[in-house]
Amino acid sequence: TRVAVLISGSGTNMASLIAAGQAADAPYEVVVVVSNVADVAGLDKARAAGVEALAVEHKAFGKDREAHERAIDALLAERKVEVIALAGYMRLLTPWLVRKWAGRMVNIHPSLLPLYPGLNTHARAIEAGDLEAGCTVHIVTEGVDEGPVLGQTRVPILPDDDAETLSERVKAAEHRLYPQTLAAFVAR
Ligand code: GRF
Repeated sequence: TRVAVLISGSGTNMASLIAAGQAADAPYEVVVVVSNVADVAGLDKARAAGVEALAVEHKAFGKDREAHERAIDALLAERKVEVIALAGYMRLLTPWLVRKWAGRMVNIHPSLLPLYPGLNTHARAIEAGDLEAGCTVHIVTEGVDEGPVLGQTRVPILPDDDAETLSERVKAAEHRLYPQTLAAFVAR
């Protein structure tokens, strides 16, 4: 299965998806990485791994979010992409893109959804006194961080945690969960 990864930044989850997809028996391959921000570290990481990496800057499209997504979508069509994996893609998607890719687009979110959709998940979990945090891979639907859950990993919240230390623990879990879940999803 030909996968595109959409990013906006460092791309550590993207790198784990690329690496797992390069295994000889992997059921998917990351064929292109697209960032809405130029010059992010994730694009360099993708190229270093031998994967085509493109910036399609949303800034170039002004307020027309759908035009930006149509430009991305055209690039994916040229590359015969079958599944989109969002990995730290920090733009709200238009209904147009979500509908076009319905059932073929997944996302990873750093919380135990349905808890803490949106931003600052770790600070909110600590503030609430939760004993556990985690990450969720889900199918993308029109509601932000909604959609059927495909996989979840729980990690403990330790007494001395701040958002930074908790984020590191969750990230390590994300890097295992996302490739595994994507592999199961494309093989379903
Ligand atoms: C991850 O925490 C992911 O769950 C969230 O954005 C972050 C991306 O991090 N959607 P990275 O760029 O993969 O390191």
